[in-house]
Amino acid sequence: MAEVLILSGKTVSQHVYHSLQPRIDSLTRSGVIPGLAVVLVGDNPASQIYVNSKAKRFDKLGLFSETFKLPENIPENDILSLINDLNNDNRFHGILVQMPLPEHLNESTVIRTINPEKDVDGFHPENMGLLASGIPRFIPCTPKGIMRILEYYQIDPSGKHVVVIGRSNIVGRPVSILMSLKQEFSNATTTICHSGTSDISYFTRQADILIAAMGVPEFVKAHQVKKGVVIIDVGINRVEDDSKKGYTLVGDVDFINVAEKASAITPVPGGVGVMTIAMLVENTVEAAEHLVSGGVVAGDL
Ligand SMILES: NC(=O)c1ccc[n+]([C@@H]2O[C@H](COP(=O)([O-])OP(=O)(O)OC[C@H]3O[C@@H](n4cnc5c(N)ncnc54)[C@H](OP(=O)(O)O)[C@@H]3O)[C@@H](O)[C@H]2O)c1
Repeated sequence: MAEVLILSGKTVSQHVYHSLQPRIDSLTRSGVIPGLAVVLVGDNPASQIYVNSKAKRFDKLGLFSETFKLPENIPENDILSLINDLNNDNRFHGILVQMPLPEHLNESTVIRTINPEKDVDGFHPENMGLLASGIPRFIPCTPKGIMRILEYYQIDPSGKHVVVIGRSNIVGRPVSILMSLKQEFSNATTTICHSGTSDISYFTRQADILIAAMGVPEFVKAHQVKKGVVIIDVGINRVEDDSKKGYTLVGDVDFINVAEKASAITPVPGGVGVMTIAMLVENTVEAAEHLVSGGVVAGDL
């Protein structure tokens, strides 16, 4: 049996950082250090871990980042007012609000307050609209990271059937749009499954490339995929156990059994998750370049 190819986000992200270095150096020579403002509300442990790893990566690359920690019960007007200040603060080329937000805050209002030109997460309706129109400005980091993994390993979605499980604005929907764009390394036929899909296995078994982004530990089993499928496992789920940490991270795919049938698969951890941070860095560098050139970022209108 042919051995499965492990699609390593670690390898691809190192490649991304390496190729970003000359762009970062060039910005630094012009006196611009790409800067990211991270807004963190409350003390959700998973969000704190994400925010810390983002800050560490920016530090390691000599970039600027600052985290604004806000109390869980912050009134909505206060967070909107902070975002307005950040919109006007030239040290920051990118603004990221860590999700999820506490229930009393309206995520949509918060996202819409970010200046779309600093929206390095790509969640602002203007950026989502540009993406859906096939002329993306900032592409959401996780979907962008998925495309970059496929490109690195020369797995071309063109002409393939890509099945995505999950339709969130963060992963499922934007990745399905990216996959179907009429351009190189896209051009796939796409299907999106969700909790309203009546027979998910019917679709997953047809997938040449299966993207699982649902947040259900090890949901996808070997009998639901065809031989030779390429698996992109976006899920990051904590499953409690009696290990030292008290939990193990698993994806949305039953890795061990599905890997036996797949031709290629992303691991969890070390797959898509690492790429998300690499793409955040790339988007922030792009935003800073935009400022320096006074022009448009790649793909902009
Ligand atoms: N690797 C990374 O960097 C990264 C980044 C973001 C998220 N994630 C992980 O990716 C996973 C998904 O995140 P998300 O933010 O997209 O989650 P989300 O907003 O909760 O969306 C989950 C999607 O999956 C669908 N779904 C859930 N259970 C299902 C089921 N049993 N059958 C069919 N569809 C089902 C939901 O359907 P409905 O729409 O019908 O509810 C929804 O569309 C999570 O594990 C998250 O931690 C990883």
